[in-house]
Amino acid sequence: MSHHSVKPQTEIFSKGYDPQRSEGAAIPPVFRTSTFVFRKASEGKRAFEIAYGLDAMKQGESPALIYTRVNNPNSEILEDKVTAWDGAEAAALFSSGMGAISSTCLAFLKPGDTLVFSDPVYGGTEYFFRHMLPQFQIRTIPFPAGATKEDMERLVKNDPTVKVIYLESPANPTILLSDVASAREIADTYSNDKRRILVMVDNTFMGPIFQQPLKQGADLILYSATKFFGGHSDLVAGITMGSKELIGQVKVMRTILGSNSDPDTAWLIHRSLGTLQIRMEKQQENALKLVDFLRAHPKVSKVAYPGLPEMGERQVALWKQQCTGTGSLISFFLKDGKEAEAFRLLDAVQHPKLAVSLGGIETLIEHPYTMTHSDMTLEEKHHAGITENMIRISVGLEDPDDLIEDLKQALDKV
Ligand SMILES: Cc1ncc(COP(=O)(O)O)c(C=O)c1O
Repeated sequence: MSHHSVKPQTEIFSKGYDPQRSEGAAIPPVFRTSTFVFRKASEGKRAFEIAYGLDAMKQGESPALIYTRVNNPNSEILEDKVTAWDGAEAAALFSSGMGAISSTCLAFLKPGDTLVFSDPVYGGTEYFFRHMLPQFQIRTIPFPAGATKEDMERLVKNDPTVKVIYLESPANPTILLSDVASAREIADTYSNDKRRILVMVDNTFMGPIFQQPLKQGADLILYSATKFFGGHSDLVAGITMGSKELIGQVKVMRTILGSNSDPDTAWLIHRSLGTLQIRMEKQQENALKLVDFLRAHPKVSKVAYPGLPEMGERQVALWKQQCTGTGSLISFFLKDGKEAEAFRLLDAVQHPKLAVSLGGIETLIEHPYTMTHSDMTLEEKHHAGITENMIRISVGLEDPDDLIEDLKQALDKV
């Protein structure tokens, strides 16, 4: 064998699964079982010693299968494969993106700690940060997505309680990028023996194909695997990735909160992995055509999409620094429009489905102001730039010319 290192697109077809352990099945069977049989009582004892951290694993030992809330072959096979693009050491699968976000945050935060986060974030994350973590005496402080290093540093510098810098990049729904490398530098500068500041990045919109924040120094990356990983709008799941050490801690929290996924969902995501890259590339190609159309349309005042000059110099610089593509999520603003105009467009489109979520092979369109981000106060929406005339579209695999014709006739009705 040569030492040529294979690309993720090749690696995922063989990594993490040995057919000989499953009767030679080329594709992993679904291990639909809640519990696993030990051969001997001593084997059960050892499995629990490792699972509960009562004793360290020895060289060559691996965690035994015990119970599907703890681990399951389908989850483990998937966890081994999904790290290929991001270059993570380990991954933890969850029952939803929110399961990944909440369990991961709770694994590293305790009463008296502070989490600072880029604003806006997905509505559910927003609710968890603004309303739920404070119930556990965990403070949460927003800062604008795309903030400069100095602005982020000001929050961390004089506050020894900050333990997590949380970025959602690009942000849902404003598509603003946040600066992962600067967050890393700040975390390194202010971490010491008493506190370790972790950088967490929600990589749902661009990852794993067009952005890999671990390479810019993130400690943990989080995904709604409901989106591109699943890719077909037929499942709900989440993934956290990072070092073995950190993911080990995340898995302890997952076991006790019960936020692990199930064998069938893990299997379905596994089936989606082979097409992940080509789906994301083709969806991006289609999105670029829609972006060109929307930018030139007289009824559209602005298009938010990574790398566009109208996103501003800093955003373009961040895009060049941390992304290798532009993705397939577009937000656009109707000229002089309000809710009524936005709704007229949403009710007139024929091909995109009027639905929240994103990253599937079918185009989805929605109104963040009254749907995904309706929980935010008027002031919070205003700060975050989520306005009544904003429409978010997740571009799928329909013929882009048909999508453009459809948007054209819908915009005519506005
Ligand atoms: C950026 C982002 N993160 C997290 C989530 C939450 O994921 P889930 O719906 O799988 O819980 C979403 C859902 O839309 C999202 O858009």
